[in-house]
Amino acid sequence: MAPTQDALYAEIDLELSWSEKELPERERTRHVHRLHPYLGKFIPQVVEVLLARYVSRAGRVLDPFAGSGTTLVQGLESGYDAVGVDLAAFNCLLMDVKTRSYDLFRLESEIRDVVRRVEAFDAGAATDQGYLGRWFAPRALAELLAFRELLGEYEHADVLRVVLARAARSARLTTHFDLDFPRAPQVGEYWCHKHKRQCRPVDRAEHFLRRYALDTLARIKEFSRVRARGREAVVIHGDSREVELGGPFDGLITSPPYPGLIDYHEQHRYAYELLGLADLRSLELGSGEQGTSASALAAYVEGISAVLARGRAALRARAPVVIVVNDRRDLYPEILERAGLRLDERLRRHVNRRTGRRAGEFYEDVLVAR
Ligand SMILES: C[S@@+](CC[C@H](N)C(=O)[O-])C[C@H]1O[C@@H](n2cnc3c(N)ncnc32)[C@H](O)[C@@H]1O
Repeated sequence: MAPTQDALYAEIDLELSWSEKELPERERTRHVHRLHPYLGKFIPQVVEVLLARYVSRAGRVLDPFAGSGTTLVQGLESGYDAVGVDLAAFNCLLMDVKTRSYDLFRLESEIRDVVRRVEAFDAGAATDQGYLGRWFAPRALAELLAFRELLGEYEHADVLRVVLARAARSARLTTHFDLDFPRAPQVGEYWCHKHKRQCRPVDRAEHFLRRYALDTLARIKEFSRVRARGREAVVIHGDSREVELGGPFDGLITSPPYPGLIDYHEQHRYAYELLGLADLRSLELGSGEQGTSASALAAYVEGISAVLARGRAALRARAPVVIVVNDRRDLYPEILERAGLRLDERLRRHVNRRTGRRAGEFYEDVLVAR
């Protein structure tokens, strides 16, 4: 007889829930995990535990919804090779910058050079009729555009692109308390819930550019000290229903998008606008924009099943598919079945704290299927 869902909640000793004290934010966002904000990531410690338990040592792991690259970065740290696929060009840029091997001496000399040039910026004011003109004060926009002009002169232009995006995110005309999902530009003073006083949106970007350039350098250096030697990550930009996944893999670990929650392109809109990245949002599975109508849910089930079926086909025999998800609509029994997978274990993880204004108690499941 097939085991019931409840019976599948494993009684195994696997630590996946930590209090804020046990696992403070600086640990969850250590080294390159904090190169740029990203909503909807899982934490490296979950990947660390899952790799150690389910994926053969020193193997190759696949994440077909790789996002900001948590699986790849932790994979490298834990001694695995890793392949990550994502539809969103900015996410791929970010993953690539996080996981590349660097000549740290050259990187440092470039970053220090660019910081010196930013200190001497006298960029004036810039206007724009579109998104950039609406979301940035003229001086901040001029500084961001002046920085963008410099990119082509540097070997590590991609690292600087991530710095530019992060500075742009901080320099948008938003309130201090709504950097995650600002709906409209904030012009002029406002009552700030975060600082409990009148605040003004920022009108400069130069200080962010300098600060984040140096922070990025420090984080890449820190990661280089802990990543395993001889291990590499490959980033594939495209739709996981279609791209060549390669293989064979020793395990798949992923946290898929969930219907109606997050628009993964839109959350980094400033980066697409400034960097001219390809926008494939119409192919996003489960985007917030598509909503949660019956037809949207059906398309989601079909899309995720197709990706997991392809992932399964790229795995070695008995290698696991490990999915971290808060399946409040109970869609995953059907998804697994359609993907030709059988649920072996189901673990529950208590997420104590999330960031930003969405903070609150929250659970997610870890589904282990084969
Ligand atoms: C929940 S996030 C993954 C977050 C990741 N675990 C991390 O820690 O950063 C889901 C990701 O799936 C990506 N995605 C959505 N539809 C996709 C598709 N058709 N092919 C590949 N990636 C897709 C989104 O761009 C998003 O980055």
